[in-house]
Amino acid sequence: MSRKKLIAGNWKMNKTSADGAALARELVLAVGSYSDADIVVCPPFTALESVATAIDGSLIKLGAQNMHFEPSGAFTGEVSAPMLRALFATHVILGHSERRDLFGETDELVNKKVLAAFKNQLRPILCVGESLAEREAGSTLKKVQSQLERDLEGVSRDQAAGLIVAYEPIWAIGTGKVATAEQAQEVHAFIRGLLTKLQGEAAAQRIRILYGGSMKPANAAELLSQKDIDGGLIGGAALEARSFVELVKAAGGKP
Ligand code: 13P
Repeated sequence: MSRKKLIAGNWKMNKTSADGAALARELVLAVGSYSDADIVVCPPFTALESVATAIDGSLIKLGAQNMHFEPSGAFTGEVSAPMLRALFATHVILGHSERRDLFGETDELVNKKVLAAFKNQLRPILCVGESLAEREAGSTLKKVQSQLERDLEGVSRDQAAGLIVAYEPIWAIGTGKVATAEQAQEVHAFIRGLLTKLQGEAAAQRIRILYGGSMKPANAAELLSQKDIDGGLIGGAALEARSFVELVKAAGGKP
């Protein structure tokens, strides 16, 4: 089955509301009607509204970087799925390694967020991946399997078809060290096989599995040519229009 490739920009804690809108306007001019690849931008919460306005009417979609699993309540500092939907977000990154490692998010918590996202018609971009120590110990696949099994508990097959998974080896994030195409494809193929077991063949064939970790225009074509690599979750290279647009066009296969 051919899956349309997806390039998602994770802006992390970068860009004010005004700077985010300016970047989004540049993206709209360059690829706002580009349909050979899907595009999602994930600004910080404070720039969601200005970016939503900037991309309105284009094919670029909006995602958040995190959310709480409850719809509302006494959760100081948190943001809920209905709040994101009200700002026209369609996607949400969940379980990023920075959330897991720096903010103590467990698989149990990530699972609650995944279920809440589906309940609110937000498509989760669920991040999984191993640390350097885990890779060196030969436990990469075990780690990824345990994350996916726990994070997807209770997700129905219908919901799973709308899932997006991002494989992000932690040692490749922001380090300039990219996984080789073979290393990445091995894990992506493993993930697709596991998703087939967990969610059935039909859903597993529809789920896009993105690679994330120092993906740049210079290394994108090789990664994106792998059978089970369906796009990228981009950090640093998403902060400038020129590199992000190049990645989108590498994914679409048409300059
Ligand atoms: P970099 O592209 O900066 O390595 O970040 C990857 C990432 O964490 C995307 O979520």
